[in-house]
Amino acid sequence: MANRTPQPPPKADPILIIGAGVFGLSTALELSLRGYKNVTVLDRYPPPVPDGSSVDISRIIRTEYADSVYSKMAQEALKGWKSEYKDYYHHTGFVMMSETASNPYIEKTLEIIHAQGRTLDELADGNGLKEMYPDLRVDMSSLRTYHNPEGGWADAQGSIRHLSHKCSQAGISFVTGPRGTVLSLRKRGSRVIGVDVVSGDFIPAAQVILSTGAWSNLLLDVSHAASASGQPVGFIQLSPEEARSIARTPVMINLTNGIFCFPPTPETHILKVARHSYGFATSISSSATNRTVSSPKLDSNNADKSFLPQEADEALREGLRQFMPQFADRPWSNRRLCWYTDTPEGDFVVDHHPVMDGLFVAIGGAGHGFKFLPVIGRYIVDRYEDCAPEAFRQKWRLRLPDGSGDLKIGDGSRAGPPLRMLTVEEQGKL
Ligand SMILES: Cc1cc2nc3c(=O)[nH]c(=O)nc-3n(C[C@H](O)[C@H](O)[C@H](O)COP(=O)(O)OP(=O)(O)OC[C@H]3O[C@@H](n4cnc5c(N)ncnc54)[C@H](O)[C@@H]3O)c2cc1C
Ligand SMILES: *[C@@H]1O[C@H](CO)[C@@H](O)[C@H](O)[C@H]1NC(C)=O
Ligand SMILES: *[C@@H]1O[C@H](CO)[C@@H](O)[C@H](O)[C@H]1NC(C)=O
Ligand SMILES: *[C@@H]1O[C@H](CO)[C@@H](O)[C@H](O)[C@H]1NC(C)=O
Repeated sequence: MANRTPQPPPKADPILIIGAGVFGLSTALELSLRGYKNVTVLDRYPPPVPDGSSVDISRIIRTEYADSVYSKMAQEALKGWKSEYKDYYHHTGFVMMSETASNPYIEKTLEIIHAQGRTLDELADGNGLKEMYPDLRVDMSSLRTYHNPEGGWADAQGSIRHLSHKCSQAGISFVTGPRGTVLSLRKRGSRVIGVDVVSGDFIPAAQVILSTGAWSNLLLDVSHAASASGQPVGFIQLSPEEARSIARTPVMINLTNGIFCFPPTPETHILKVARHSYGFATSISSSATNRTVSSPKLDSNNADKSFLPQEADEALREGLRQFMPQFADRPWSNRRLCWYTDTPEGDFVVDHHPVMDGLFVAIGGAGHGFKFLPVIGRYIVDRYEDCAPEAFRQKWRLRLPDGSGDLKIGDGSRAGPPLRMLTVEEQGKL
């Protein structure tokens, strides 16, 4: 594996982190805790970044995984949610359900949970849930359900704000707007020496860390390893009384159609429904590489466009009819596509670039990265300092293209229709 720095880089060297989401901010904070003195985070917007994947009213916090590594990490993360991040964590319980008797993702998850000596409530008749959650109205008799009283959801925007305040207090600098928006990595030979930004400036660095989520292909073509997929989300404004009527409900995901829904937000009374699916592909031309790549736009904020492809809108409505029929015909107060960074097996990509010196990547959240906010920085910086256990070296490596063709998506948890490329007209609405 090439000629990258074998030793941890000197702690006084300037480090630039591009991207202020979960991956970038947690890395910045951990670097600072380990004594790195000159860490700067660049982003298009100050965090919480409005259209970043790490920002929304809610994200699922669960410890059920069909993978023992993420399962253990998620249990560690839950401790963080219940302590330092408790103001942002809502301990409501978590439910997975499936129409079919044997859903491969659930089977694998159960195997791992049992191997860890843990249990889930396994209910052959979904209506058994109604004793635990009396506000549930829907008939679930035909569903197999799996309930864990541990787990719930987090206020994504609030916890990102907290994390970025901690970064500022630790002495990390933030640069946003045109000077924080990176157009390209500048190289000298095989070394990255800094970045060129929209304001026209060049910002030098000894190390650049790319934590640019779904936008990563604009700066470094890693199309074989990570791609952007838009996933639909819908929001409904309830009255305080309506919100109270469904307050005692868990976070629920239907693994047969990928639809998931949250209890209403306590103060603002917003009901949210979304789909964990193969999503919608999009592509734009990268000025850094002169190629058409998978990425959302860099220069517009799609969080306030309120656009969804028609069939995604209908699927969310239908899902809501199944979970919360009493609110299924309410108009959306907002709706949007949110960007996953998909990877072949749903694994994160956290690695020194195999051939370019001075470049480290921490991307590939693959639709499940948020819950790790309290702990992911440690794992990333262990990779950065080359002291992570061997398991991570393999699992999170940045592959070079091997010509094997189409990107396989995810970890087996997705449902719904196959990935569809958005039309030019639809892309124009984002
Ligand atoms: C709809 C949806 C639902 C999800 N649900 C869950 C869930 O329930 N539970 C869970 O654990 N995870 C969930 N996830 C996944 C999780 O949110 C992501 O894995 C995680 O937020 C990824 O963080 P990130 O730091 O990689 O990306 P982001 O938060 O997107 O950060 C990347 C940042 O890079 C910046 N950037 C990119 N390019 C440039 C550039 N050239 N110059 C300057 N700045 C740049 C962007 O502005 C952005 O702020 C969900 C994701 C989505 C989209
Ligand atoms: C960080 O590095 C930059 C670029 O070399 C330099 O201009 C700046 O003075 C350094 N800041 C600190 C606090 O050392
Ligand atoms: C991209 O194309 C433009 C115009 O053809 C050219 O000037 C530029 O050098 C190219 N950039 C790269 C990185 O190839
Ligand atoms: C789960 O999805 C299946 C397939 O779309 C659907 O038939 C079923 O009604 C859904 N159940 C719930 C409770 O969402």
